[in-house]
Amino acid sequence: VITVDGPSGSGKSTVSRRVAAALGWRYVDTGATYRAATLAVLRAGTPLDDAPAVAAVVAAIVERSGLVLRTSPDDAGVCLDGEDVSAEIRRSPVTSAVSAVSAVPEVRRALVALQRAAIGATGAVAEGRDVGTVVVPDALVKVYLDADTQVRAARRAGDVSAGVSASESAPSEGRDPNDPNDPHDVQHVVAAVAADLARRDRFDSTRADSPLRPATEAVHLDATAMTADEVVAEVLQLAVVAGVGVVRG
Ligand code: DC
Repeated sequence: VITVDGPSGSGKSTVSRRVAAALGWRYVDTGATYRAATLAVLRAGTPLDDAPAVAAVVAAIVERSGLVLRTSPDDAGVCLDGEDVSAEIRRSPVTSAVSAVSAVPEVRRALVALQRAAIGATGAVAEGRDVGTVVVPDALVKVYLDADTQVRAARRAGDVSAGVSASESAPSEGRDPNDPNDPHDVQHVVAAVAADLARRDRFDSTRADSPLRPATEAVHLDATAMTADEVVAEVLQLAVVAGVGVVRG
């Protein structure tokens, strides 16, 4: 098992998926389990500050096997009670609420069990915040991927504005290109995403249960000035050094 932990927008998903594809391994997005659980909580109308109620909603879904991850790197996603919610879990209502839901210890216990089942004993690349420290502490290779906050925000803003233009964008006619409050203005989007990233980083790193922090033996990669290709090559090299190439012959 290879683990890739780090803050939002560091490139974990792209890198983990591509490393998994290159090795013919499964790809496990642990963040998607927290996002799908958060969507279920929002749909149930449960107040986010009612931790026992939040935990009960999540426990019920896990018990009825209602949360299912697809782990093929070419077709990764997540279903909630049979509905593919892979796109919906990336939207802002879930993104805004996910830190609160993922800070509830009972939620983490239920979802870590589900994540471990998806990862199995071998042959998976798993990404998240605490995969190397808590979910798979005996992983073969542990990576902690980070990047400068502005670079991470610019990357995430690209994802966000791509989503906006695909689904919600108003026609460009009638928009004032100098309007600093135009929600479709790129700088405006980057600034908003940077503020949200900083808020989530702070929340995810300071929560009591399984905060975001590098495993002691993790290899730190700073992706600020690296392309995705370079990071993928580096992680594959770590895998080869750890013996993966020998196993695959
Ligand atoms: O990687 P992501 O942005 O999809 O993760 C969404 C949230 O889930 C993130 O803000 C923190 C939480 N998370 C976590 O607490 N532990 C993990 N292993 C993965 C994600």
